[in-house]
Amino acid sequence: MSQSSPARLYIDTKRVVSEISPLLFSGFAEHMGRCIYQGIYDPASKHADQNGLRKDVLAALRALDFRSMRYPGGNFLSGYRWEDGIGPKDQRPRRRELAWQSIETNQFGTDEFLQFCSEINTEPMLGVNLGTGGIQDAANLVEYCNAPTGTHYSDLRAEYGQRNPYGVRYWCLGNEMDGPWQIGHLDAVEYGKKAREAAKLMRWHDDSIELVLCGSSSSQMPTYPEWDRVALEFCWEKVNYHSMHYYAGNPNDDTPSYLALSAALEDYVDTLAGVLRYVKAKTRSKHDVYLSWDEWNVWYKARESSDLRGNWAEAPHLIEEIYNLEDALVVAQWLSVFLRKADVLKIACLAQIVNVIAPILTRGDELLQQATFYPIKVFSQMARGDSLDVLVESPRYETSEYGDMPLLDVSATHDAAGAVSAIFIVNRSQNDDVPVEINWQDAMPTRVASACQLAGDDPKAANSWDNPHQLSTQAIDPPPIVDGATELRLPPLSFTALEVKF
Ligand code: AHR
Repeated sequence: MSQSSPARLYIDTKRVVSEISPLLFSGFAEHMGRCIYQGIYDPASKHADQNGLRKDVLAALRALDFRSMRYPGGNFLSGYRWEDGIGPKDQRPRRRELAWQSIETNQFGTDEFLQFCSEINTEPMLGVNLGTGGIQDAANLVEYCNAPTGTHYSDLRAEYGQRNPYGVRYWCLGNEMDGPWQIGHLDAVEYGKKAREAAKLMRWHDDSIELVLCGSSSSQMPTYPEWDRVALEFCWEKVNYHSMHYYAGNPNDDTPSYLALSAALEDYVDTLAGVLRYVKAKTRSKHDVYLSWDEWNVWYKARESSDLRGNWAEAPHLIEEIYNLEDALVVAQWLSVFLRKADVLKIACLAQIVNVIAPILTRGDELLQQATFYPIKVFSQMARGDSLDVLVESPRYETSEYGDMPLLDVSATHDAAGAVSAIFIVNRSQNDDVPVEINWQDAMPTRVASACQLAGDDPKAANSWDNPHQLSTQAIDPPPIVDGATELRLPPLSFTALEVKF
């Protein structure tokens, strides 16, 4: 093992980017493949509770502490009739589901989802269908969930077991409506007008709701970022968030570039932040709209057309991506991007949570935690308070995609109330240890209370049913603080998190 020149980090707890929105650690559950059926909901499992929810999956999800959960899709949303999924289960229709060419039994619907959210202590974020669905359907769903009893849909809710309004606060105005693959795809003008009218009716039912507009499905879309500008100009005053989606991968097996992905992720946020500023100025508005990265993950291995079509089966195996060490290191720096951009980015939903491009896999009654499970858990548990602007002096390396990049990817948080900071560092080098010196600038911590690390020498190593614990975070000795600095050595291909007390 060789060693690079040293890196230096300078941390000032007053150099604040923004308070961190807890919703940056959110998830996304779609009626796709085995996410809902055989994932969250499996009455036949020995782990099923009285509602058919899998207790082992609930426990793993609780460990990830998702603050909100987006549902029911995804591409599924754009053909979904939400009324199919309420009421007596034996009367719910079986449907041919077109987005994933699967059979939808509707045994899990809005009420089951809201029950699931309360089990894992997460805020629901419901999507309304703006593909085949009309603005009336969207408004009816808000009435079903949030209106006091005494009218048709709110009385139905009471009849089906929930007298008090659920008070669902977060709502998505469709899904990826810019994509030609979307059921009921619209151009930006058509979508902007439909979303504005849906928002108007939904808010007339409940003006306390917060709405997410569909932004571009990725930065690679030919209509990006014009779609974003146009849709926002129609809807600016009526929405609170603008969505962005992105799936990353290493299809050319160029690990140095893949491990530098945060450069592209930051550029994507910066461009959309510019669009937000432009539309705010153009509309002479005092209102603010923030970004919701409500689908993000690594997804490139399970992307053949056979991974996307269910052949009209119930709960088919779709896009069950296996995650390796390099994927986990990309996920770790993606979470750091969320913190570094916390001033404009307020929601981020990992897509998805179980079986479908997920940190958790099930097989029969077994459960496997993939490599990506660990950085998600660490950030979700440790990032608190404010995000800090860390000054990073790092040795650099060459990538074919992004040119010269720092070997270290760093973020930090500070929670003044709890007198605690957290530092998150990825060492992108495949060969070199990086010695790092952390310098405390304005306030001197008393100790590093804990430290953990995910590391390995093979970027392609992954957990499997035969070897389920090959990759996980391990506690490491907390480094001491000496003369105002903390020194530690970061192994290649590693993610390290420190918790520091003041
Ligand atoms: O998460 C899988 C799919 O990816 C979602 O259904 C869709 O919104 C995106 O294209």
